[in-house]
Amino acid sequence: ATYNIAVLPGDGIGPDVTKEAVRVLELIREVDPEFDIRFTEFNWNSEHYLEHGTMMPEDGLEQLKAFDAILFGAIGDARVADEISIWQLIMPIRKNFRQYVNMRPIKRLAGIESPLKNEAPVDFIVFRENAEGEYSNVGGRLYAEQPQEMAIQNTVITRAGVERITRYAYEYAQATGRKKVTSATKSNAIIHSMKLWDEAVAAVAAEYDGIELESYFIDALAAYFVERPESFDVVVASNLFGDILTDLGAAIVGGLGVTPSGNINPERDFPSMFEAIHGSAPDIAGKGIANPIAQIWSAALMVDHLGRPELAKAIVSAIEQVLGEGKVRTPDLGGDATTEQLGSAIRQAVKEQ
Ligand code: NAI
Ligand code: MG
Repeated sequence: ATYNIAVLPGDGIGPDVTKEAVRVLELIREVDPEFDIRFTEFNWNSEHYLEHGTMMPEDGLEQLKAFDAILFGAIGDARVADEISIWQLIMPIRKNFRQYVNMRPIKRLAGIESPLKNEAPVDFIVFRENAEGEYSNVGGRLYAEQPQEMAIQNTVITRAGVERITRYAYEYAQATGRKKVTSATKSNAIIHSMKLWDEAVAAVAAEYDGIELESYFIDALAAYFVERPESFDVVVASNLFGDILTDLGAAIVGGLGVTPSGNINPERDFPSMFEAIHGSAPDIAGKGIANPIAQIWSAALMVDHLGRPELAKAIVSAIEQVLGEGKVRTPDLGGDATTEQLGSAIRQAVKEQ
């Protein structure tokens, strides 16, 4: 089949790691003629903003709509306020394309050093609610420059919104043989929105037999992620809780350089978007040493979403093989390889399969 992919490399290390992800996909296209993947690149980034005053053209979403998926680098640039780069590019895509599921696998691959003391296998997946919650843009500021200055930022939790992310998590658990769903809550203190969260999660959980539901307050859950990460299977969390939990999850399995994500539109009426969970990493941008694994793995999630799970598996196996051998590592993993060298080692491993 033919797959048309919109590529938004973004800022900082985004273009470097995205280039390596595209190269892996091009290699697969070479060996598998049934995988006719095509790329259209869009330079919608902070540079675009500085030149044109917008992160993307007015008809940007219209242009993206027709693609089968979006591969997104990362954005963020010291010359442009984060609220502009995030709210004019990522958020409009996630929200308008109804990518309400943010899937973030947290898996400890062999060959990765983790700050965890024990060697227990870590392999769970977080489904972060991606369309509402704390990132709602509802609110405002009052009494500027007065002693009583204040800001209110409302959290939007809807029953339908919680039910659909929870249902997605349960369907995933069922399809992949996972046995437990953990809900991140804080209904002891956030008594309106998180109570509704709890009720909606429980209502969906009741529809599924044989998959246990457990629920923890987010603060305790954060501690458990570090103390016993091997005990988690599927985690469902609100937008903010899921955001924080997944950077923590990334940290326990090797860092932001190796952790992928997919912004999924389950109904498939708009394209889904795949991106590493990290940002533009200004501290290492331009040095050619960013770890491309997170982005290559995100591309594998995209390939899976496009309906080619066996090819996605081949990419992840190649990543595991290179990490397992331990010869080619970027500095974040304790080595001195460049982004290109690690990308090239992964392509070599794909070829050898
Ligand atoms: P960040 O994820 O860019 O960097 C955090 C730390 O992780 C840095 O020390 C960085 O060097 C390291 N790191 C990240 N990715 C890496 C990789 N592939 N290889 C090796 N090391 C890596 O987060 P930070 O510094 O909070 O944000 C920087 C900018 O990125 C900000 O402008 C922020 O708004 C933006 N951002 C964008 C996101 C996106 O495009 N979806 C997500 C998160 C942040
Ligand atoms: Mg984040």
